[in-house]
Amino acid sequence: MTRILSVASECVPFVKTGGLADVVGALPAALAPMGCEVKTLIPGYPAVMEKIGKAKTVTTFDELFGGPARVLETVVDGFSMLVLEAAHLFDRAGGPYLDEGGQDWIDNAKRFAALSYAGAYIGANGAAAWMPDVVHGHDWQAGLIPEYLHNLCQDGPKPPFVFTVHNIAFHGNAPRERCADLWLDPWRLATEHFEYWGQISALKAGLMGATKITTVSQTYAEELLTSEFGMGMEGVLAVRQADLVGIVNGIDTDVWNPQTDPEIQTYKLPNGKKANKAALRSEFGLPDADGPLCVLVSRLSGQKGIDLLIEALPALLERGGQLALLGSGDPALEAKLLDMATGNPNVGVRIGYDEALAHRLIAGGDAILVPSRFEPCGLTQLYGLRYGTVPFVTLTGGLADTVINASPAALARNVATGVQVFPITAGAIANGFVRLCTLFAQPKVWGSLQRNAMRQPVGWETSAAAFHALYTQVTSKAN
Ligand code: ADP
Ligand code: GLC
Repeated sequence: MTRILSVASECVPFVKTGGLADVVGALPAALAPMGCEVKTLIPGYPAVMEKIGKAKTVTTFDELFGGPARVLETVVDGFSMLVLEAAHLFDRAGGPYLDEGGQDWIDNAKRFAALSYAGAYIGANGAAAWMPDVVHGHDWQAGLIPEYLHNLCQDGPKPPFVFTVHNIAFHGNAPRERCADLWLDPWRLATEHFEYWGQISALKAGLMGATKITTVSQTYAEELLTSEFGMGMEGVLAVRQADLVGIVNGIDTDVWNPQTDPEIQTYKLPNGKKANKAALRSEFGLPDADGPLCVLVSRLSGQKGIDLLIEALPALLERGGQLALLGSGDPALEAKLLDMATGNPNVGVRIGYDEALAHRLIAGGDAILVPSRFEPCGLTQLYGLRYGTVPFVTLTGGLADTVINASPAALARNVATGVQVFPITAGAIANGFVRLCTLFAQPKVWGSLQRNAMRQPVGWETSAAAFHALYTQVTSKAN
């Protein structure tokens, strides 16, 4: 039995802004059959406190970055959780990272230093009688864990720390003057620890202090070492390259199961697709059309290439294609998309966050679009594969690793599952739409793409085994 303390800022089904929450929520069940016992530590945001109900106190802090705090333990629907209750940091309206006006919380550095400190504290001392063998942190919000482990384990053994990078774009920086304030040892404000261009970087602390670093696809692990994708951390990662591995994300194949999905109509290709497509068209007020109905479900940010899509869209619409999109985020992108929908009967846009509608979109679409500038893994193309909704993606990160491009060679061998676009420009996306429409116009070829897509393994089995092997490796190293 290996005991894992997983530490993250979001986790399904308690709080979610993106794929991080899905991964953190799905891994424990995937690891259980391999003899891993995972407890997941997350902040006690109001939504979390509401969902956990009664819980046992396992650790108390008289003072944690400005107020008292405690760690509560409970099991919700079989999911073992530890919740950091710290009202002065987490009991407020707004999101996990942003206030109600859409700005970063001014005390984010402290809020996630507190999460990391609580994680390190449990790593060093256990929670009640439970002592983790490995601490596994996710993204910068858990990046300071090795610093606190260093401080807390001066006289005793230190558990290994596995750090997973879901997105290198966020560094969690703070001014160097704040070492004392963040309970960091000022002597370690140095390039081999957490100093980054004169500042404190929680992400760098995690990268430098980790026993092993994982990221969410093989290609992203390679991209991270380049100046184009490393976002300024490529030098740090070059130093840690020997300990960096890519382990691709899976999806929860029970939640995303076209045979049992309560949101959709009976699903059997090709007729199930037709019924769900008709329902989706009517929900979005789209007319019948000859081209592919393309869907997109996403945060709206620069990363996701929505501006490139808008520029390339005429190439799809001119060929009888349609777009139904669900997303929220950048207000300027939201406004542009709504504007585009107003002027075009073949474009439907819903601004908001809606899990049920996401299922109906993936079930009803012919193709799922993921035109990202960079994409560490991406989950919606995996949902698309499972539902026979052909992925149309840019060639980057996990999109490169999980889709097989319909090249002449792949079509001849009947292994293609989607369309990949490169380079990542509006022009290449427009050309990709021409290819997509040509493939869609050949029902036999399209049917084989759908069937190949649905045969792809998109669950967690292989990747959970890779995590298990990594945990085994780091624990045997420590002993
Ligand atoms: P990221 O984590 O970068 O946002 P991923 O593809 O890994 O990208 O994960 C995004 C997750 O969030 C998916 O589960 C996707 O379905 C979901 N999602 C994103 N936007 C919305 C939305 N507006 N409504 C419902 N689900 C959404
Ligand atoms: C990040 C990435 C996304 C990835 C997700 C889960 O949010 O942007 O590509 O799928 O984390 O690992």
